[in-house]
Amino acid sequence: LKLSNYPVFHHLRGISVIHGDLNVLTEKVRAYVEDKIDLCQPDTIHICDGTDRENSNLLNLLQKQGTIVPLPKYQNCWLARTNPADTARVESKTFICTEKKSDTIPTPEEGVKGSLGNWMSPEHMDKEVIARFTGCMKKRTMYVIPFSMGPVGSPLSKIGIQLTDSAYVVASMRIMTRIGQAVTNIMDDTTEFVKCLHSVGTPLNGVVENPSWPCDPERTLILHKPQTNEIVSYGSGYGGNSLLGKKCFALRIGSTIAKREGWLAEHMLILGITKNGKKRYIAAAFPSACGKTNLAMMTPTLPGYKVECVGDDIAWMRFDENGQLRAINPENGFFGVAPGTSNASNPIAMKTIFKNTIFTNVAQTSDGGVYWEGMENEINDNVEITDWLGKPWNKNSKTPAAHPNSRFCTPAKQCPIIDPLWESPEGVPISAILFGGRRPVGVPLIHEAKNWRHAVFMGASLRSEATAAAEHKGKIIMHDPFAMRPFFGYNFGHYLQHWLNMEKRTTNLPKVFLVNWFRKGSDGKFLWPGFGENCRVLDWILKRLDNEDCADNTPIGLIPKKDSLNLEGLNGIDMSELFKLDAEFWEQEINAIQKYFEEQVGKDLPPAIREECDKLKNEIKNM
Ligand code: GDP
Ligand code: PGA
Ligand code: MN
Ligand code: MN
Repeated sequence: LKLSNYPVFHHLRGISVIHGDLNVLTEKVRAYVEDKIDLCQPDTIHICDGTDRENSNLLNLLQKQGTIVPLPKYQNCWLARTNPADTARVESKTFICTEKKSDTIPTPEEGVKGSLGNWMSPEHMDKEVIARFTGCMKKRTMYVIPFSMGPVGSPLSKIGIQLTDSAYVVASMRIMTRIGQAVTNIMDDTTEFVKCLHSVGTPLNGVVENPSWPCDPERTLILHKPQTNEIVSYGSGYGGNSLLGKKCFALRIGSTIAKREGWLAEHMLILGITKNGKKRYIAAAFPSACGKTNLAMMTPTLPGYKVECVGDDIAWMRFDENGQLRAINPENGFFGVAPGTSNASNPIAMKTIFKNTIFTNVAQTSDGGVYWEGMENEINDNVEITDWLGKPWNKNSKTPAAHPNSRFCTPAKQCPIIDPLWESPEGVPISAILFGGRRPVGVPLIHEAKNWRHAVFMGASLRSEATAAAEHKGKIIMHDPFAMRPFFGYNFGHYLQHWLNMEKRTTNLPKVFLVNWFRKGSDGKFLWPGFGENCRVLDWILKRLDNEDCADNTPIGLIPKKDSLNLEGLNGIDMSELFKLDAEFWEQEINAIQKYFEEQVGKDLPPAIREECDKLKNEIKNM
């Protein structure tokens, strides 16, 4: 008999490795894994190699467990239904752990509850981790996922090791990041990595309510320790809580690394736009569920324009040796909001998502497809629909068919307009940065920052209507500075100073704009058609990048001169309502912003931002 006919068993701390090669792990990785094996006490270890075969085995397993069902209408597509208590990011249970509280969050005014992140001490963190993780993987497999945020080997990329007891997380991480052998191949004993521990958890009473989606909502905790580049996430299997490369690594830990190393980790899409053969790249920060994925994949309605997609959620950006800001998309896939996605609103997404995709919490059709609000014209009239909870649904039902935060998780390379440079190791050159949010009243379609300080102030004062991406209730207008409020890895006051400091790094700062697709008229309808028509706003931005004299100064910033926004072929746009600057509204707005800064940021607010605030307040008085 040849030796190779015998299965070779490997063990780690006495636990057998049932898949993958132990020898691909570096000394440091192995020590990390061993430490967490002792804590979590899994039954078996699976070291992910990232192969197709591994993936199809995991999908089979998930199907057997009832976590996913196949969607035979499409190619290699799957539907997961979560526990209804586990459908969004849990910001109130997300903490940053530092010795000093003031390193994590600004000190709010006496009697005011801080809303710029949650802090935990290292001792407290250790206690909470031990209480939850001790033995939490008993009877389960611990998956070891080596992954790269950013193209494997790019000088701008970073490596992580995620340990998880969820095969759904492995299959999703394989889409959202680059995993497996490609990553371990470039690691040696000097390679730094972010340590990411995740468990869906087991409730204290041992009762798993929904065995196809185990979780522990009552004890969910998402913890980050920037000092040791460590993430620990317990109790949730959902998206941003469990795919640790995304929000936890690329934004929270990422922003702390970026602060140390002098670059920016931001909640931004990246797109390329070509007009008359000239191409520019734009990054844009909008809060969750406010239009990033749509803008990143937009189909311009104006002839002569081409938009290409680099990323739809996160940008890592730094100034190169020539002072040019360059960005990479650290992700490998799109975790996009499903509801509202249709051939009318986002045809490019529709061409991307019907193969190799994991859908979560969307509705299902009797012909083996998916359905969500906005897909009314995309399905046969005679199909029956099952809602995200597994109950029969019809158009007269009072509840939505798909959860408002239901998502598709799909490989970026399937996007028909993926940018040829989307995996370029040096990143793409950024010419403009956009901020935006959902503002039904008062905020014009577009305005431009007057200078860099004003731009930083603009980002700092960003506000938006609450959405379903997090646990917030109701349509209140929330402060969401830089669209990063849920994702700051360190004190927001220090973050503002870091942004202000960029002025010292280059003479070639990008121009900055604030857009609002969501202003409503007195009839409650959107004043602007949005989606592909947003190219008209991008067109005006390009003119400004070319230094065209097409902007008028106003107290709040520069707005398009009359007739400089191309409205050709578009009827019924109420430009005066779209751009109306109401003195009373802006007085209230600046007061709210000032109050927010004073109450929430206090002494950590950089003086330059306080000055911008005072300046604007004075100008508004003369409006
Ligand atoms: P993201 O979470 O920031 O990536 O936001 P998405 O691009 O997924 O969009 C979230 C929701 O906003 C979806 O339901 C979209 O249909 C809707 N949306 C996106 N862009 C626009 C727009 O320009 N106008 C309007 N009215 N809705 C939009
Ligand atoms: P989104 O990403 O910004 O596309 O909604 C997910 C999230 O922020 O939770
Ligand atoms: Mn996001
Ligand atoms: Mn998105």
